[in-house]
Amino acid sequence: MARKISFINYKGGVGKTSLIVNTAAALAKMGKRVLLFDLDTQSNASIWLLKLDRWNKINATGEGSIYSIFDPGKSHIRDLILKDVVEGKAGEKLLPGLDLVPTSFNLVDLEAEYTGDPKRPAYVVFCEQVAMVEPEYDFILFDCPPNILRASQCGVFTSNEIYVPSNPDALSLIGFTLLVDKLQKFHAISGSFRKASMGAPAQVQGLIFNSIRTGVDIEVPKMRMQLRLNQFRAAKRAAPSSKIFNTQIRDAMVVRRSVALGLPVILVGTEGADTTDSVTNDYRKLATEIAQHEPQF
Ligand SMILES: Nc1ncnc2c1ncn2[C@@H]1O[C@H](COP(=O)(O)OP(=O)(O)OP(=O)(O)O)[C@@H](O)[C@H]1O
Ligand SMILES: [Mg+2]
Repeated sequence: MARKISFINYKGGVGKTSLIVNTAAALAKMGKRVLLFDLDTQSNASIWLLKLDRWNKINATGEGSIYSIFDPGKSHIRDLILKDVVEGKAGEKLLPGLDLVPTSFNLVDLEAEYTGDPKRPAYVVFCEQVAMVEPEYDFILFDCPPNILRASQCGVFTSNEIYVPSNPDALSLIGFTLLVDKLQKFHAISGSFRKASMGAPAQVQGLIFNSIRTGVDIEVPKMRMQLRLNQFRAAKRAAPSSKIFNTQIRDAMVVRRSVALGLPVILVGTEGADTTDSVTNDYRKLATEIAQHEPQF
């Protein structure tokens, strides 16, 4: 079985997309087979990995984007997978093993216009289709927007693990608290659709600190986050194996630049060089820590 993981926090802009894209790239570089789903209408991960020209073609018609499994409903996730998605200027494959199911702006219609069959909510349709491609992957990752509306529900329902990207500030703590509250509510309403083959409902397995500036002491916000996590664990609202990850990702200009270049940080030449003291190494360490994490439920 693939490990199925959602990256989500109710706080926006904490680094969910940059963490998931760069961790996915690091996992692929380690030889893992990785499928990344972009479940955010903003399409940041898709635009990043496809670059604007390739993504524009999908956005123009919606064909090839994730929403097409719901409307017109004729596509299958298998047909939407862009294999070895990262390409160079001549179309050469730069990162074998990293596949993407892209989104386009029409995913917003899932939240309002889409009605579907009330007996088969969107997240059930989605989960069943993911199951069919699952044997081909070691990791299936879901980049979610900062809410648990329908698009996020697809990722949350299908995954078994949740990682919460956070900044060392009070708003991230509020975002985490709200997330755990909404997760419990969603699991309660979606529970009747769960089958044993889907595995355990997704619980928080980890908090990951991102964008940490050199010289800034984060011990106090980290301690507050740890206390909140302990409370949730004691109340069985977070997994027994949940923890704050040892690896934290530094704030680095190359992360912002890599978006404009349309490449994960590990492929951005010398700036992304994998020296021991680099953001690239942070992502590699994080990917290793996630790969070694043994989730309990
Ligand atoms: N480690 C980092 N160093 C420097 N900049 C970063 C880092 N991580 C993220 N950023 C920048 O912070 C901004 C927000 O990051 P990102 O888009 O990954 O957040 P997000 O949580 O996915 O946002 P949203 O809630 O809108 O989906 C981006 O401009 C990104 O390039
Ligand atoms: Mg994002």
